[in-house]
Amino acid sequence: MNSKSTKSSLIDYEKLMGLLKSYDQNYLLTYFSELSQEQKTSLLEQIKNQDWETLKLLIERYVKDYTVALDHYDISPAPYYPAQPALKDEAKYQEAIKLGKTLIAGGQVAAFTVAGGQGSRLGWDAPKGTFAATPLREKPLFQVFAEQLKKAEQNFGCALPWYIMTSPMNDADTRAFFKSHNYFGLNAKNIMFFPQGTLPSFSTEGKVLLQDKANLALSPDGHGGSFKALKKSGAIADMKKRGVEYISYFQVDNPNVKIMDPLFIGLHALDGADMSAKMLPKASAKEKVGNFCLIGGKLGIIEYSDMPSELTDAKNDKGDLLYNAGSIAIHMISLAFAESITEDPDSLPYHRALKKVPYLDITTGKIVEPKEPNAIKLERFIFDALPLAEQAFILETDRVEEFAPIKNAEGNDSPASSRELQTERAARWLEHVGYSVPRKADGSVDAIIEISPLTASCADDLKGLELPKIKPGDKVYL
Ligand code: UD1
Repeated sequence: MNSKSTKSSLIDYEKLMGLLKSYDQNYLLTYFSELSQEQKTSLLEQIKNQDWETLKLLIERYVKDYTVALDHYDISPAPYYPAQPALKDEAKYQEAIKLGKTLIAGGQVAAFTVAGGQGSRLGWDAPKGTFAATPLREKPLFQVFAEQLKKAEQNFGCALPWYIMTSPMNDADTRAFFKSHNYFGLNAKNIMFFPQGTLPSFSTEGKVLLQDKANLALSPDGHGGSFKALKKSGAIADMKKRGVEYISYFQVDNPNVKIMDPLFIGLHALDGADMSAKMLPKASAKEKVGNFCLIGGKLGIIEYSDMPSELTDAKNDKGDLLYNAGSIAIHMISLAFAESITEDPDSLPYHRALKKVPYLDITTGKIVEPKEPNAIKLERFIFDALPLAEQAFILETDRVEEFAPIKNAEGNDSPASSRELQTERAARWLEHVGYSVPRKADGSVDAIIEISPLTASCADDLKGLELPKIKPGDKVYL
């Protein structure tokens, strides 16, 4: 560090100290004099990068004084397209499939993965997409998606651009992982990585927390930050240049996602929808998925943690869950709509979560590892864009076919439950084309079966396949 940069960081220090004082956050520079020149520059940069006026508003609105006010009277169950069309809709579904295929082949659809989350529940330190997901080959999640896209490129004879949102914390590792695996056979020119934004964590009194003497406690700003990040990174401009009109959005945690689904894409285009979503009938009232509702007549999602019990548990006349439509976080988003959201940065609300965040205690200069939740994190959710859409719909899908998420280390939505669902789906595909699969008395598959996305993207792709008889306990990779 030369004397010029030392001087400029001193000027910055004076300026930023004044700024922080006006927001009552100047304690952030308490240990400044103890830092190395490099750390000083970095801390000043982190402070400079924050929009302090916005943070002040967020602290007032979401941190210090916060109540969720859900007007129950304005909420009703959301209608959806059933997985199997009613007679009157059969022709529409067929037309949609045809149109979806044309749009994919025409390069008008891009894949978009949100992979900026921290994967803390899974206890996996590396980017979640690097987690070994499949039952036999233990392919990482990113490879499963890459192979699906490769197969779709072969089937449709086109290049499919893939946008991957990372976070500043896992961006370099994600890029390195793809590079070291030679982009899993995809053309690197069609993959774009970009980091999402971050926000500081706050004490419950509204103070920005320090992670240590030299760093703010920052974390990703939620997948609702996608819109801003898509714009800022140039991804939207890149999509326009390529002629993309529709974005197929999915989370990094679900190996059974059907990224290029002609029916879903075609319905989205036929209906002129801005944003659409896939749903599953919920497994139970309290399943940890977002709940589709009409809120004031607009389609929206109420997150499981925000949905009051009187609504989650409510039943209809037949005794079924009234709010049975669960979100699997799969969306089609029209590019024009995504861009319109980026033009109004305040259009999406923030959600507040009380979390355990290690922080620097300013009075002692020591790092505290809290045993109880101590800090407020704010995140935006992508699905809060749904009510802003003029046209939006939900399409029902099948749980085994499209939802095998890996979220928790054990139990529901864990690597083990995902592997079982992947095997079950593979077995069903084989049975669909006439193979017999050994099953135990409880109906579960008595073998481990993995079908590579390069071999088949649906059951029909297995027609004509030559396969030796599968015996109980076999391990079969296709
Ligand atoms: C999410 C949905 C829930 C849905 C369920 C289906 C939210 C808030 N809830 O729950 O409605 O029913 O999936 O599986 O999303 N991510 C980022 N950046 C962030 C935060 C998250 O890219 O700042 C990504 C993660 O990498 C992951 C996805 O978003 O791919 C989901 O995030 P998470 O917060 O774990 O939501 P879930 O509780 O799984």
